[in-house]
Amino acid sequence: MTKYVAAIDQGTTSTRCMVFDHSGHVVSVDQTEHEQIFPRAGWVEHDPREVWTNTRQVAAGALAKADLTTEDIAAVGITNQRETAVVWDRTTGEPVYNAIVWQDTRTDRICRDLADLGGGQERYRDRTGLPLATYFSGPKVRWVLDNVEGARARAEAGDLLFGNMDTWLLWNLTGGVDGGVHVTDPTNASRTLLMNLDTLSWDAEIAADMGVPMSMLPEIRSSSEVYGHVRERSALASVPIAGILGDQQAATFGQACLSPGEAKNTYGTGNFVLLNTGTDKVMSENGLLTTVCYQIGASAPVYALEGSIAVTGSLVQWLRDNLGILGTAGEVERYARSVEDNGGAYFVPAFSGLYAPHWRSDARGAIVGLTRFVNKGHLSRAVLEATAFQTREVIDAMNADSGVALTSLKVDGGMVVNELLMQFQADILDVPVIRPVVNETTALGAAYAAGLAVGFWASEDDIRQNWAQDKQWEPTMDAETRDRLYHFWKKAVSRTLNWVE
Ligand code: G3P
Repeated sequence: MTKYVAAIDQGTTSTRCMVFDHSGHVVSVDQTEHEQIFPRAGWVEHDPREVWTNTRQVAAGALAKADLTTEDIAAVGITNQRETAVVWDRTTGEPVYNAIVWQDTRTDRICRDLADLGGGQERYRDRTGLPLATYFSGPKVRWVLDNVEGARARAEAGDLLFGNMDTWLLWNLTGGVDGGVHVTDPTNASRTLLMNLDTLSWDAEIAADMGVPMSMLPEIRSSSEVYGHVRERSALASVPIAGILGDQQAATFGQACLSPGEAKNTYGTGNFVLLNTGTDKVMSENGLLTTVCYQIGASAPVYALEGSIAVTGSLVQWLRDNLGILGTAGEVERYARSVEDNGGAYFVPAFSGLYAPHWRSDARGAIVGLTRFVNKGHLSRAVLEATAFQTREVIDAMNADSGVALTSLKVDGGMVVNELLMQFQADILDVPVIRPVVNETTALGAAYAAGLAVGFWASEDDIRQNWAQDKQWEPTMDAETRDRLYHFWKKAVSRTLNWVE
């Protein structure tokens, strides 16, 4: 009998394969990072071939580490960094350009031109749930077709395919040029600016505005069903690929936020707060996104409100890699603890402009409030606080949109091991922050989607039962301090706007 389900988690900085048992515990993991390519200011790329090679390696690695074989695995799920766009040739399997990463801002002009067609930044909000912004995939595909020599003609001839990382990996895993399956799920499709949120199908009119031929677009299937089987002569050969969820939706699923009103915040490269709104599609009036949370088989889609923050964990990496003032990312907590408070310094990491709730591509990062008093400890604290303040901004927007104040926040992701940050987060939100035992909720969510499709887990009740709390942080800050700190954060944010002309 097969005892396990695997998940491939293709993230912004790394790719991993994790194997889970029936109780949702991690049995094995293998992970490898890929190169971050920054050809110009504001541009961010990944090499899709490197990502595909890494995927094969970590799949083999995860099995080997736990002494497992393909026969032990009931199904595999895919979860991925969303919005990152790959365009490749269906006859050769070769990408025509690097993957343009979600954080990339090169499509600013394309987005502004589309807004000028009428309706401004909200032009497609009714149909897609999204503002026109550089974040999403559609404009990135347009950029590739406009800028790679010959690409548009090849796309129009039907030779090029588009996919987010889920689709690129699924196509390759299922055989590539030898019959690869060209499919995505509604959670990924809802991040392209090309899918209609009600019908869960591609919107021909928007695709035409965007200059993206419909023949490039993958088929949209549910988030939990068998799409195909892993090609022979590879790790996981013949295993059914049975789940696809964008990584933030996967984390929501893995956190068992399965009822309307339940929310989670993932602290990764960026932060992403998702609130399950059930089968009701809530349109935001406060700068949030409306997105598909998941669609399990033939059931009705479940929607979410999302607050996307571009830069949180990657700010710590930036401090380490670009400034060299940290040896390791983990040191940020030690330095932050060496001081009482931020010393008046605020760091707004608007490296990709500002995402939710502002949606300002003209913003750029700023450190403000500096005096000679400020040292490395204060800066480290300002870096951690920026994550908590940005989260507060999107939670405020969520409370305003839903009309109900959040009473607690489930958290996961790399930064939740940072105790100082978690306490500050509870303080600045004034609600308890709760961390689960299994913190790998992204991979777990994809494993759940795949396992449900093949009957490894019977129902969503199994997911609820597997969830267990590890630790809870209670707010202890007085209201006056909280209000004063947040006031200065807001002031700092205002300093970053209108920077790009
Ligand atoms: O929308 C971008 C998001 O999916 C990226 O997530 O965890 O790779 O930073 P992560």
